[in-house]
Amino acid sequence: MEMDKLVALCKRRGFLFQSSEIYGGLNGFWDYGPLGVELKRNVKEAWWRDMVAGHDDLATLPGAPGPYAMTGLDCAIIMHPQVWKCSGHYDLFHDYMVDCRESKKRYRYDQVQGRWVEAKGQRIFVAVPSGEKEDEQIEQRALKYFNLRAKHAEELHWDGPVVSLTTVKDFSQVLGPDAKELGTLTPPREFNLMFKTTVGALGGEEDVAFLRPETAQGIFVNFKNVIDSSRVRIPFGIAQMGKSFRNEITPRYFTFRSREFEQMEIEFFCHPRQSPEWYRYWRDRRYAWYVGLGLAGERLRLRDHSPEELSHYSCGTADIEYAFPFLAKGEFGELEGIAHRGDFDLRSHMEGKLVRKGNELVVEMGPDGKPRHKGSGKDLSYFDDQTRERYIPHVIEPSAGADRATLAFLCEAYCEDKVPDENGKLTERVVLRLHPRLAPIKAAVFPLVNKDGMPEIAQKLYRELKREFNVFYDDKGAVGRRYRRQDEAGTPYCFTIDGQTLQDNTVTIRDRDTLKQERLPLAEVAHRLHELLR
Ligand code: GAP
Repeated sequence: MEMDKLVALCKRRGFLFQSSEIYGGLNGFWDYGPLGVELKRNVKEAWWRDMVAGHDDLATLPGAPGPYAMTGLDCAIIMHPQVWKCSGHYDLFHDYMVDCRESKKRYRYDQVQGRWVEAKGQRIFVAVPSGEKEDEQIEQRALKYFNLRAKHAEELHWDGPVVSLTTVKDFSQVLGPDAKELGTLTPPREFNLMFKTTVGALGGEEDVAFLRPETAQGIFVNFKNVIDSSRVRIPFGIAQMGKSFRNEITPRYFTFRSREFEQMEIEFFCHPRQSPEWYRYWRDRRYAWYVGLGLAGERLRLRDHSPEELSHYSCGTADIEYAFPFLAKGEFGELEGIAHRGDFDLRSHMEGKLVRKGNELVVEMGPDGKPRHKGSGKDLSYFDDQTRERYIPHVIEPSAGADRATLAFLCEAYCEDKVPDENGKLTERVVLRLHPRLAPIKAAVFPLVNKDGMPEIAQKLYRELKREFNVFYDDKGAVGRRYRRQDEAGTPYCFTIDGQTLQDNTVTIRDRDTLKQERLPLAEVAHRLHELLR
């Protein structure tokens, strides 16, 4: 599937619009249109239902070491600045960027690729933004730089494969991604990704606050509140979904890397001894969730991090990744990370920002001998009144992005095929084969023609269904074209009121994927739809 086609469909059918489009748009921000808002809500609702509201606290689920409880939170986006100092975001949540003095463009250091090439006695590194068809772009730029025609491409002597700009020590021979001259890129600099804002009217340095870059910290700082107010016992998880903000240097790939996005995060608190088992449980459980909603197949994978990739406090991290069509062949993009975080977060909020010293995590000290970022001083340990043991729980964190999941479901669902029209002639259609739980519109109701009492029956059915489901009424144009419109929107079922309905009170139900049509009594439509959507 070509990404351009999906992007065009998203705009045409109202899934996604560029934010502030009438003013030329704002890079890294997106608006969900009438169909998009339903789709994303369904993704979030499926997550909340499957992980939280519908979770059975009494059962031992397959693969789980035992029963556990789940509960939820909805925290403020702006939190006390000390939260981000103790969590490490204030000091460490940065990317490296390079600027181009010539084009005035800014790039994320690790997202510039390039290749060494020699021609006409000169050896240069030709850089392009990482992504699709890097090889081709690099060759085009090298030809242009050396003023060679394509038919003289053999005069370019390539030295090694495409590599990251991060492998290049000296930028003097680098041709920046949008530059005409060499050596225009600045050395890499740190860039903190948190958006700053000001709280209150005075606007001094003490009033600086940050938009949260993740929802997780709201959960950690409320750990004690949840324990004290809800009688949950370890092991249990707290879930939260909501907006997060990151001032990404190079937002791109549609909604994949945005500056404002939604996360769906769980912090699962357990006994340190049991934490490796819980980590494996959550990794497999979260992978199965995507498979169950239609991301099965080779485009989805679960990738365990190598020991070198792990954060210093973690004994395991895995990513659930999807081969998005905008990525280079063989590349995968992260949908969700599942991390074993040890007691790092709760301890940081108790004692102060932690750093590694040998094999230990210790509070980082400032030059004055006091903690560099002071913790809350509150006791965030857990007392097990059955075993009489007090300990700081370990945390497993499955952290997903609602927008990335929505985008992956859209990419997977997009399909072009040929279907017979009313006269049996094969015609092309675009269809979104979304899982019925995710489909923005669950069913459409059509009167075959706008006469003979058919619209009245169809409208009555529409109103009855509308009480429970998001259904759509359409009486415009030939019925074949109405089906096509619903196929593009991903609507799994269409009910049509026709001449036979007037005689025997039955309607047709048409399945988006199999194209099969069958009749069923009008009175059974709501029940059938319930069953199909379950
Ligand atoms: N609390 C851990 C955490 O935030 P992360 O890997 O930085 O981990 C988790 O983010 C998920 O949030 C990612 O797997 C991704 O789905 C989503 N995400 C992160 N940055 C994003 C961005 N700029 N745009 C869209 N989604 C993003």
